Amino acid sequence: MDSIKVGLLGVGTVGSGTYRVLMRNQGEITRRAGRGIEIVAVGARDANKARTIVGPDMRIDTDLMRVATDPQVEIVVEVIGGESPARELILAAIAAGKHVVTANKALLAHHGNEIFAAAQKAGVMVAFEAAVAGGIPVIKALREGLTANRIEWIAGIINGTSNYILSQMRERGQAFDEALNDAQELGYAEADPTFDIEGIDSAHKLAIMSAIVFGIPMQFSKCYTEGITELAIQDIRYADELGYRIKLLGISRRSGEGIEMRVHPTLIPVRRLLANVDGVMNAVLVKGDAVGQTLYYGAGAGAEPTASAVVADLVDVTRLHTADPEQRVPHLAFQPGALVATPILPIGEVVTAYYLRLRVLDQPGVLADITRILAEREISIEAFLQKEPEEGEMQTDIIMLTHRVREASVNVAIAGIEALATVLSPVTRIRLETLT
Ligand code: NDP
Ligand code: HSE
Repeated sequence: MDSIKVGLLGVGTVGSGTYRVLMRNQGEITRRAGRGIEIVAVGARDANKARTIVGPDMRIDTDLMRVATDPQVEIVVEVIGGESPARELILAAIAAGKHVVTANKALLAHHGNEIFAAAQKAGVMVAFEAAVAGGIPVIKALREGLTANRIEWIAGIINGTSNYILSQMRERGQAFDEALNDAQELGYAEADPTFDIEGIDSAHKLAIMSAIVFGIPMQFSKCYTEGITELAIQDIRYADELGYRIKLLGISRRSGEGIEMRVHPTLIPVRRLLANVDGVMNAVLVKGDAVGQTLYYGAGAGAEPTASAVVADLVDVTRLHTADPEQRVPHLAFQPGALVATPILPIGEVVTAYYLRLRVLDQPGVLADITRILAEREISIEAFLQKEPEEGEMQTDIIMLTHRVREASVNVAIAGIEALATVLSPVTRIRLETLT
């Protein structure tokens, strides 16, 4: 059988990795897919740069739309990133009857509903394994492997760059900016790295996974998002002393009132596997009603780990290319007509535990005032740490871990605590999850 023809849009980190993996493993890939997978055209902004990667014989076009709509091309791989022109290229490819493979979570989080509807109408596939957690086949697991389950929650380290930075800060004492710079050089970071460090990239991925596990439309704008830029090294140290690690987590949880969807730095007990996922590695913990907890772990970014997911999608699409569209796995796991409008809860309605750090005057009565304010809101304390004041200092840090409580109550308590004359600076609050 003839090879299936692919147009590759973008030959940066992921595009060049995809090209390399396809070339290197073409024998094995062909045996798995049932026919060869052949890149016949590459779309690139800089043809000379692209030529150094794909060699002298490849057709390179600086007009990406020509590749996306080329009659010879059957699958378009979009790895340029960003919303535009990626959206226009993908919609044009779909309209021209081509299947699409993309690693672009920003695009899907913002325009996924539109893109999947267009693909559904055209009877083509849009595959996106590489968009979430790099090389980990977590979309496959959520969409197919766990399909018997009612998923209760997912919690994941889903940004390699920020996990790399946090690990470098904790283990090697490296400065934030230096670690970010390294992550950029290693090809982990987004074109705009604020997406990584401000939690936006994690929120893109969480919006995609939430849609798949709960059968809801993608709703990135409703995801609460907080990054790692405000995290202080002393909180990483205090968390260690208390037996916790701080990770940037994406959490999506079903509750009686709706769905929590949030990304923020989170204390996790050090005995949990997720707390020990370091460097560029990602992991997604999933709680299903039948299977219990399952954990998916692997490289969350980088050229070949991500290419592994792109090529897996290419094989999947090649195998299902001739199947009746009705028989394919739905893009978002649930049948398009069966999505539900469960509300996404505002952050004030979220129930979780908290790490609170307070800078206070070291004098009698301070603690009593603070615990009274917490008790008024029915916030009970699970653990407590008071640091010795530094030599000659009259102030010190108090650290408290609370039981689970509604965030709106904690906000009121924090406002009351900050109004005390003995509390010297804004309270540091980091959410805590035991993941049981
Ligand atoms: P790169 O910046 O390394 O590569 C993007 C490539 O696309 C570059 O060659 C760039 O050209 C080209 N490009 C960008 N915009 C245009 C345009 N308008 N017209 C023509 N060419 C264009 O990014 P990555 O490979 O890292 O990321 C690609 C996608 O994969 C993104 O969506 C990203 O979020 C996603 N992803 C990345 C991962 C990673 O580890 N890097 C992991 C998982 C997903 P030029 O060089 O001229 O700028
Ligand atoms: N910038 C992303 C990360 C790439 O660091 O996780 C993988 O999606």
